[in-house]
Amino acid sequence: MMYELTDGYEACRIINGYWQLSAKHNENQTSTPVEDTAEFVDAGLTTFDCADHYTGVEELLGEFRNWYRREHGTDLPVQIHTKIVPDRNRLESVSRAYIEGIVDRSRRRLCVDALDLVQFHWWDYSVKNYVDAARHLADLRDEGKIRHIGVTNFDAPRLEALLDAGVPVVSNQVQYSLLDTRPEREMVDLCERRDMKLLCYGTLAGGFLTSKFAGEPDPGEATDLENRSLTKYKLIIEEVGGWEAYQNLLGTVSDIADKHGVSIANVATRYVLEKPRVGSAIVGARNTRHIESNQRTLAFELDDEDHRTIEVARAHLAEVPGGVYSVERDQDSRHAKIMNYNLNQKQDN
Ligand SMILES: NC(=O)c1ccc[n+]([C@@H]2O[C@H](COP(=O)([O-])OP(=O)(O)OC[C@H]3O[C@@H](n4cnc5c(N)ncnc54)[C@H](OP(=O)(O)O)[C@@H]3O)[C@@H](O)[C@H]2O)c1
Repeated sequence: MMYELTDGYEACRIINGYWQLSAKHNENQTSTPVEDTAEFVDAGLTTFDCADHYTGVEELLGEFRNWYRREHGTDLPVQIHTKIVPDRNRLESVSRAYIEGIVDRSRRRLCVDALDLVQFHWWDYSVKNYVDAARHLADLRDEGKIRHIGVTNFDAPRLEALLDAGVPVVSNQVQYSLLDTRPEREMVDLCERRDMKLLCYGTLAGGFLTSKFAGEPDPGEATDLENRSLTKYKLIIEEVGGWEAYQNLLGTVSDIADKHGVSIANVATRYVLEKPRVGSAIVGARNTRHIESNQRTLAFELDDEDHRTIEVARAHLAEVPGGVYSVERDQDSRHAKIMNYNLNQKQDN
């Protein structure tokens, strides 16, 4: 199901998240990406999320685009959202040439003249030239290399600064889930005032908000888990009160899922999709196994009683502190310590 993300541009309410296909995400990856991508497109899930620093993923989508042209003699009917994540150790010297170099590399890899949506990330607000960097993106948009500009993980004051500087930002990609409602603190209000959409990741907490872990014992240290998403969201579970508190919430969600004849994952995604200013949920797509299930998310609605029940259960959790991405930005936090900061310079051209 598509909606108008911004004037004249439509995207799917469920976006296929391709971080899961990055070489750095999970070294035991076993899927067949071009065939899988064709299956997503055939199922009507035509919007993909990737990034300049998801190793190998832009190239894969470019390869798929060329394969599709050869097979069908026509251009691919997809929307590909990428990111621009300047390396942390280069922030002071980010220039127009640096930004344009990354944008041109994404255009080459994705085999397009204009990128559909480029989502800008900035690691450290104490390095102030993020407004200039975003202005370079706006210039590249005016020149036709980019169709639309988004941001990712921006907090409300810094995003407003970009908007006030005339950068036409249409969306913010943020973590938003049953466990993490930080966007509700200031971001939803800003999106309302400045007519932007939220594109939400972490809606399934890497798989924790599915039946896979329901009733299971605590799998242990975040850093020992199977892939990088599980590591990231295990830390969020610890923020909101730990394994038992999370299992209690999962029990409530499971009852609501039974009532509608759907899965825990469907209810978790639906919860986010029904929130104000949410355009899409970005659901990690390691393979095609969950296509039918994720389509079911779009075929039912939570009722008022469900929302009330969920909020009562959520009230037993602690809140993730701060605004969007603030605990991740804190260099001393466990969230910051698991991140890779300088992946751009390691990529081939
Ligand atoms: N901007 C950022 O900073 C940022 C950060 C993180 C992620 N992202 C984006 O968001 C996307 C999503 O990643 P995420 O890490 O947040 O993961 P997620 O979407 O919360 O979880 C993805 C995992 O959930 C499982 N799953 C998916 N659909 C399911 C269904 N219907 N039923 C049961 N299980 C299901 C799959 O696990 P199994 O394969 O094990 O079954 C999948 O790998 C990424 O690909 C990326 O595009 C962006």
